[in-house]
Amino acid sequence: MDLFEYQARDVFEKHGVPVLAGAVATTPQEARAAAETIGAKSGGVTVVKAQVKTGGRGKAGGVKVAKTLDEATEAAENILGMDIKGHTVHKVMIAQGAQIAEEYYFSILLDRANRSYLAMCSKEGGMEIEQLAVERPEALARIEVDPNVGIDDAKATEIVQAAGFDAADQAKIADVLKKLWVVYREEDATLVEVNPLVKTQQGDIVALDGKVTLDGNADFRQPEHAALEDKEAADPLEAKAKAKGLNYVKLDGNVGIIGNGAGLVMSTLDVVAYAGEDYTAGRAKPANFLDIGGGASAEVMANGLDVILHDEQVKSVFVNVFGGITACDAVADGIVGALKTLGDGATKPLVVRLDGNNVEEGRRILAEFNHPLVSIEDTMDGAARKAAELAAK
Ligand SMILES: Nc1ncnc2c1ncn2[C@@H]1O[C@H](COP(=O)(O)OP(=O)(O)OP(=O)(O)O)[C@@H](O)[C@H]1O
Ligand SMILES: [Mg+2]
Repeated sequence: MDLFEYQARDVFEKHGVPVLAGAVATTPQEARAAAETIGAKSGGVTVVKAQVKTGGRGKAGGVKVAKTLDEATEAAENILGMDIKGHTVHKVMIAQGAQIAEEYYFSILLDRANRSYLAMCSKEGGMEIEQLAVERPEALARIEVDPNVGIDDAKATEIVQAAGFDAADQAKIADVLKKLWVVYREEDATLVEVNPLVKTQQGDIVALDGKVTLDGNADFRQPEHAALEDKEAADPLEAKAKAKGLNYVKLDGNVGIIGNGAGLVMSTLDVVAYAGEDYTAGRAKPANFLDIGGGASAEVMANGLDVILHDEQVKSVFVNVFGGITACDAVADGIVGALKTLGDGATKPLVVRLDGNNVEEGRRILAEFNHPLVSIEDTMDGAARKAAELAAK
């Protein structure tokens, strides 16, 4: 999960990373009230910043310095509702204005290829960092961080030296890097990026903009992270599926997909997309990813069907199950149970392909149930063609 800048700011503050005062606002009036309190700390100057989970806000006009309350209100009026790379701005952060002397760059991220962490640091931070990385890679120090050691005194010193900071600034910057490492470790992050990390005219080192990605796999030991989720942005079907514990991703097609095992579901998406090409462009495409996992009980099947059948774009459903540990008869019982549970709620044709352990018995159960909306296919390709055909009708 990616955090908004204001959430990253709060997390930084919690771990002692130096940040400026900031408050979030959803209306120009709230922004004005926040600017009144926060501006008092910086001679009335505030910065109004779009809160969207994408980069390049400054260049898109989503970061504005305001010298008066009227300016802050006007900036909030302009920025709220703005579209930045497809993200609508619903919130702004009112930040205390900094008197910047220098802008630096620092990040720690998970380096999967090297099974390690990577710290990147540059004396030349700010809005052009991507360009810097391409045009003058030598200006961006890249230092491997051993996950078992992290950024201790020695590593922090190595990083600030590699980045070429003035000797007089090194100790202060190293101290902030160690605190950012604590954020990375304690919060189970996979990315902590500060751009810019600034030196103020008073000589302080401050994190002025933060991007943090939290590792969802660590949610079980990070109960506080649930509160950081952006519920407004979540797709309602995805939210419903999540609440039921399903691995569901909404796509924009019209063939609902249910399968067991991520690999099987991925290849099901492929065969459906392929079969759908036979019809006029775009008429039959996968509507979702849904992996019901190993169990495939009636309850899980009913929950899955319930989510998919509520997707208005769905015209047909393809249930593709390979019976392994869970035998096909149990899966067929699951489908029958689900259809009974859903009753009149089951309104769209279901194409079922079962194979594997106890397949004969599974097919017999479905044939006997003889539901008007259910058809059984022997092969995955055949079932994909049938589901695509039904959706394209
Ligand atoms: N509180 C502040 N006080 C003074 N100047 C600021 C403040 N916050 C940001 N700025 C200036 O605005 C620039 C852009 O701000 P910021 O880094 O937050 O957005 P951005 O880089 O455009 O967004 P993104 O990181 O999403 O690409 C900074 O490099 C800095 O010069
Ligand atoms: Mg930035």
